Amino acid sequence: MELPKRSHILGAGFELPRTVVTNDELSAVLDTSDEWIHQRSGIRERRYVDDGEGSSALAERAARKAIAAAGLEPGDIDLLICATLSPDVDFPGNSSFIQQRLGLAGILAFDVRNQCSSFLYMLSVADQYVRTGGARHVLVIGSEVHSSGIEYADRSRHVTVLFGDGAGAVVVGASPDGERGLLTINLHCEGAYADKLCLLGPGSLRKPRLALDWTPADIYGWPQMDGRFVFRHAVKRMGECIEEALAVIGASKDDIRMLLPHQANLRINQLVAMGLRIDDERMANNIERYGNTTAATIPILLAETLDAGRIHDNDLVCLAAFGSGFTWAAALLRW
Ligand code: ACO
Repeated sequence: MELPKRSHILGAGFELPRTVVTNDELSAVLDTSDEWIHQRSGIRERRYVDDGEGSSALAERAARKAIAAAGLEPGDIDLLICATLSPDVDFPGNSSFIQQRLGLAGILAFDVRNQCSSFLYMLSVADQYVRTGGARHVLVIGSEVHSSGIEYADRSRHVTVLFGDGAGAVVVGASPDGERGLLTINLHCEGAYADKLCLLGPGSLRKPRLALDWTPADIYGWPQMDGRFVFRHAVKRMGECIEEALAVIGASKDDIRMLLPHQANLRINQLVAMGLRIDDERMANNIERYGNTTAATIPILLAETLDAGRIHDNDLVCLAAFGSGFTWAAALLRW
């Protein structure tokens, strides 16, 4: 059997909850304002699931759309990789639940945990499986339900206003012509700054692990972030990583036709784009409508940008992310 020279994204889909939560609505429960949130982050609104809906339900719906967009049936999938920092339950990982929901009993399924960079980490794994003949069609899914895990209190307002719920998925398979597809993917991790953006509980450092003495007043159960520190590193690392990826394939900044950056803060993306001399025409953002959906962000943005007809055959597409860990990554694909 001849092995594929390259992998490509064969189809993409996304799913967002119907309920829109505006900045004004958050301002009714937190000491914040539409003006502050929009000016600092670019966000106007985000989506929240109904009570009782978890991230695997969103994942299933996004996955079905991605499989259909690839012109395939669920039964064509032979590997499922998913990521979330908001799984349905603490263990097992969402991959088991999504496999079951899609009726894919028996196929290999596992979780990746790299927060906002997860999609690109998963893409690199999918690429390896496809190019080494380990799988023909890899379903890659990011899905998050943040709304049930953020603190609606003023001390967390800088975190809470940023996050929304959603899911995005792609199918990765062999490049149809062996030329188009994933050209390079560059991944990084710097554990020294893990405490700058984290959620401590539930964790094995504490006994009992589920911290039965935890009360909502204890920060243990809520995400913590040093916003300014994260912001500075995100701008620097995403820019660097994109340049590194361009160097690997011998391309220049001007060759990028579409930049799809992670959506943590519109100001971060504008600074990264400025450094690369990329104008609005060559960049897509949707943070204004959805906030940060962590592992789901890039596949949602990719699916939306494809649906809008903004990516054309042979375009050089750049995907870039930065997030908790710290982790960051950039990928270049010839579409
Ligand atoms: N509403 C009103 N005021 C607020 C809010 C809010 N929601 N949040 C913070 N403030 C106040 C602060 O208390 C502070 O007040 P002070 O000057 O009286 O002390 C002031 O606004 C400025 O606070 P900063 O934190 O310095 O504001 P900044 O301009 O840095 O914006 C933000 C904060 C939006 C969080 C920004 O730092 C940011 O986006 N950081 C990066 C986030 C990110 O990239 N995360 C990574 C991905 S997430 C993942 O991987 C899971």
